[in-house]
Amino acid sequence: MTPAIAVASAHSNIALIKYWGKSDSARNLPAVPSLSLTLDGMTTTTRVEFDAELAADHVELDGAVTAGREQARVVALLDRVRAIRAFDSRARVTSQNDFPTAAGLASSASGFAALALAAASAAGLSLSLEAVSGLARQSSASAARSLFGGFASLPADSECAHQVAPEGHWDLRLLVAVTEEGRKPLGSTEAMEVTKQSSPYYAAWVTHAPLLFQEAERAVRERQFDTLGASMEQSTLMMHASMWATRPAILFLTEGTLAVMHRVRTLRSQGLPCYFTIDAGPHVKVLAEAKHAEAIQRELALMSQVKRVIPCAPGPGARLLSNTLLTGKALPC
Ligand code: PMV
Repeated sequence: MTPAIAVASAHSNIALIKYWGKSDSARNLPAVPSLSLTLDGMTTTTRVEFDAELAADHVELDGAVTAGREQARVVALLDRVRAIRAFDSRARVTSQNDFPTAAGLASSASGFAALALAAASAAGLSLSLEAVSGLARQSSASAARSLFGGFASLPADSECAHQVAPEGHWDLRLLVAVTEEGRKPLGSTEAMEVTKQSSPYYAAWVTHAPLLFQEAERAVRERQFDTLGASMEQSTLMMHASMWATRPAILFLTEGTLAVMHRVRTLRSQGLPCYFTIDAGPHVKVLAEAKHAEAIQRELALMSQVKRVIPCAPGPGARLLSNTLLTGKALPC
């Protein structure tokens, strides 16, 4: 096989309704449905080159050669592509984030979405976006949603995500209030497993999460901001409550996180509609309608606990920056 190269970019997505826990760890299938907003900022750009002359895969992330688990997760995705395509060439992978990696800012979502698209394309596979989403999902379930622009859902036990509404559907903003710099102490895969194994609240979470998903999906379709915000806050609080009840407890929320959560509630009571959500990290993502976003951003930026605010609008799905376009549907999804 002659060297085959593709470059793809993907944006982070933030779950408005959270995925937390796997129904099948080996296949990486989510136990609960999730609903996300793909952002216009926070981009990963990934180049994949398959080269029959290479002895081993070579992976660079933000200019540093990867090793250990980070490297193994990338190689596992490349192996799946090689198995579908039935060839054995190793790859050179370079990936660049324009935001901090593994800091609770959904870098695995944009990272594996861009990697799946670039790797499939460089291998000459003709896959639908859903099938590429399925490829990304096996590495990181949240990544399955970043293939799609705007609002996307990943149903429980599902192989791949689907678009709920495109980015132009609703002029919302997600204000990312960064409360700490640096890498998070615990990865989400491990934290989910501990929650499933030892939290007495995990079963309640799995039972209740689909109800919130249904409510939020309808709220997105009908553009009901307060309903979406209320289900979004309950989803993140239920997810974190299930983690607080593990042994040992998993606490991603810091003093800074709590301060921003309270500030959001105060702003709301003062007539500025906004709602929070928090992932597996200390940062707070604040949902607002575009017309109120600047005022809310100003208030958040005034807080001593907030290092900076990254304003994001609904963004597009993953796309190829070079190589062939995806047309066919070679994998079932
Ligand atoms: O797919 P992972 O392993 O990056 O887990 C994502 C978990 C959350 O970000 C906390 C929730 C979500 O649905 O994105």
